Formats: sequence, structure tokens, C-alpha cells
Amino acid sequence: MQKIIITGGAGFIGSHVVRRFVKTYPNYNIINLDKLTYAGNLENLRDIENEPNYRFIKGDIVDLEFINTLFDSEQPDAVIHLAAESHVDRSITNPLEFVMTNVVGTVNLLNAARENWKGKYDKTRFYHVSTDEVYGTLGEDGMFTEETAYDPHSPYSASKASSDHFVRAYQDTYGLNAVISNCSNNYGSFHFPEKLIPLAINNIKQNKPVPVYGKGENIRDWLWVEDHARAIDVIFHNAKAGQTYNIGGHNEWKNIDLINLLCTILDKKLGREAGESAKLITYVTDRAGHDLRYAIDAGKLKSELGWVPSITFEEGLEKTVDWYLANEEWLDNVTSGNYQQYYKGQYNNR
Ligand code: NAD
Ligand code: DAU
Repeated sequence: MQKIIITGGAGFIGSHVVRRFVKTYPNYNIINLDKLTYAGNLENLRDIENEPNYRFIKGDIVDLEFINTLFDSEQPDAVIHLAAESHVDRSITNPLEFVMTNVVGTVNLLNAARENWKGKYDKTRFYHVSTDEVYGTLGEDGMFTEETAYDPHSPYSASKASSDHFVRAYQDTYGLNAVISNCSNNYGSFHFPEKLIPLAINNIKQNKPVPVYGKGENIRDWLWVEDHARAIDVIFHNAKAGQTYNIGGHNEWKNIDLINLLCTILDKKLGREAGESAKLITYVTDRAGHDLRYAIDAGKLKSELGWVPSITFEEGLEKTVDWYLANEEWLDNVTSGNYQQYYKGQYNNR
């Protein structure tokens, strides 16, 4: 595989995937295709932007003409598709935007791939990056496997489930070489502070209330983003066409326990008295349709392709907090302007 288009490469996970591919495979030609929405930020890739095997192209995957022209002119060998609207709360406010980017945008890419790669499906690959949220919610027991039936509850997860179905339909109907992975919650550097962990770090740092939805009893299964990027690398290079892999860290945390842990870490790092940051915890109105628990069984990925997480949650969280404390300018830049408006709309009346 020589030329790879990575969509959504200026976002949180995409930037880690782009960095990994650019650095690990100097012979590959990596094109980062991103619309640069509020979530896309070229600052995330400053360290590799001048590498000879990297290029950025600004564009919208919903724009079919643009996508077709791009495929015609670039003739990529593969697509790793991460571009998406990714925040559940925003999908509750504006579902249609999620249908456009996550469903229509994905189908546009599939169509361009189908046309452009005719006669060479065996030498090309469409890798679709998806989420565990397509499986819905778990009770106290059990884990999502690759066989779990889809049961999405939020407009976000419904749009991702739909895009997964289209990817499989293109594999089954046209013979496109497609692979899908469904990953649990990621955390790490460059995570936009609308999501729980970076939002909590930022608020604790600034002595602002830390909003916890409902009773804080929902459970998420957290994975360090660089381990996700490595899993994508392993699956991209080794999976058979048509395969699906679940990716996760066997690392379930109740939201409130996680927030308390972050408070303890930040008390130490900011030189506060023990228990001071936890006073910021504020219970707010729950998210509508809030899934209770996610837990991923990543056994197939381990047994077939040998992938396991490389670091513990404690190590990863410490690294993450350190990164946010050391990158104040990044945090200030992404939380100025539109973020303030978003924050007021999302939290002021909860
Ligand atoms: P993100 O919101 O941080 O980044 C999304 C990127 O896509 C941004 O750079 C944005 O500019 C770009 N984008 C959005 N709409 C676009 C469009 N129409 N055309 C081109 N580019 C567009 O998202 P993320 O958290 O990095 O997630 C990346 C992918 O991984 C998504 O598909 C998401 O569903 C999936 N995923 C995320 C997680 C997680 O915990 N964050 C877990 C599992 C799967
Ligand atoms: O599971 C994978 C998914 O993880 C990805 O597909 C999504 O793109 C990603 O955003 C993430 O979805 P979640 O909804 O689980 O992540 P979020 O960080 O928004 O919320 C994590 C948990 O914390 C969830 O139970 C809701 C809760 N929460 C969130 C926010 C933003 C709060 O209690 N307070 C908050 O302010």
C-alpha cells in the first residue's frame, strides 16, 4: 500500500493515526483529508507537517464532486476513514449533521472507492473506524463481541451503525475490500475538551464546576489513544477482507470514580490539599438516552493479530494529565471563541 488517504486526520484519534503512519512508514504517501470543523486542528500535527511523506488536503467528505475529483487525481491505494461528527451530546442537538457527515460522507467515500478501484479490489483497502456505541448498552454483566447485535440509542451511534452497515454492504455487494474496527472510549493528548476526560481536566485546572451527568454511575471502557492507533495499524496491515475487530482496554470505570481519580491526580500535580478538587464535582441533568455501560471483548484482536494494550490506565492517565498541563496554549486556543458558546448552551441550564 503506497498512497493512503486518512480522513479526519486533524481530529483527536486521526492525528495519532496520521503521526504513527507518517513516522513508521516513510515509504508510504500519507494524505490527511479533513474539513477542519471545530474538532479538526492542524496544531495537532505540527511535529510532522513538514515530513516528505505527508500532505494535508482540506475538504468535505459530504461533497461528492470533491471526493470523486480527489480519487481521480490522487489514485489512492487505501482509505483509513475516521472523519466524523463524534460527540454524542452534539448529536442530540443536531442529528442531521451526523447523518450528513457520518452516513452520506461515508457512502460518498465508498462510491469513489468502488468506482476508482474497479478491477483492483484485491490490491486496495477501505478501513472504516467505528465505535462500540453501535452495540447499544450493557447491563451489569457481559461484554460486546463482534457478534453482538447492533442496537444504537443516540443519533451519533445510529449514524455510525448506519455507516458500518453501508461498508459491509459494499463489501458484500460489490466485493470492495473493507475492514471495520469498533473501539471503546479513547483518551490521551489532543482530545477536544467537550469529552469527559479533557473537559474535567480543564475545569479542575481552572477551578470550575466539573459536570457529572445523572448519578455518575455510567460505565465506560477506556483505552489510550496511541494503543488505538497501533491497533488500527495492525488491523490495516493484517486483517483479511471483510473482517471486523473490536478494540478495547478491559478497563471499565464508573464516571464518578474516574472523576475522583482525576481530582486526586490533579490535587497532587497542582499542589492542592487532598480533596480540594473533588469539591468541584457537580451533578447535573443526565444525558438523554444515556447508555449505562460499555465493555469491549477484544479477544479476537489478541488471539488473531496479537494486539494488547501497551500501558495501564494509571500510566496513561498520568501521561494525559501531564500533557494537558504542559500544553496550556493548545488548551487555551481550542477553548476560546466557539467553545465558550457551546459550553454555555450545553451546561448552563442543566
Ligand atoms: P474528532 O471529533 O476529534 O475528529 C473528527 C475529525 O473529522 C475532525 O478533524 C473533523 O474536522 C473531521 N471532519 C468532520 N466532519 C468532516 C467532513 N464532513 N469532512 C471531512 N472531515 C470532517 O473525532 P475522534 O474522537 O478523533 O474520532 C475519530 C473517529 O473514531 C470517528 O469516526 C469516531 O466515530 C471514531 N471513534 C471515536 C472514539 C473516541 O473515543 N473518541 C472511540 C471509537 C471510535
Ligand atoms: O465508546 C466510544 C465513544 O466514546 C466514541 O464513539 C465517541 O465518539 C466518544 O465521544 C465517546 O462517547 P461517550 O459519550 O462515551 O464520551 P463522553 O466523553 O462524551 O462521555 C463519557 C461519559 O461521561 C458518558 O457516560 C457521559 C459522561 N459525561 C460526559 C460529559 C461530556 C459527563 O458525566 N459529563 C460531561 O460533561
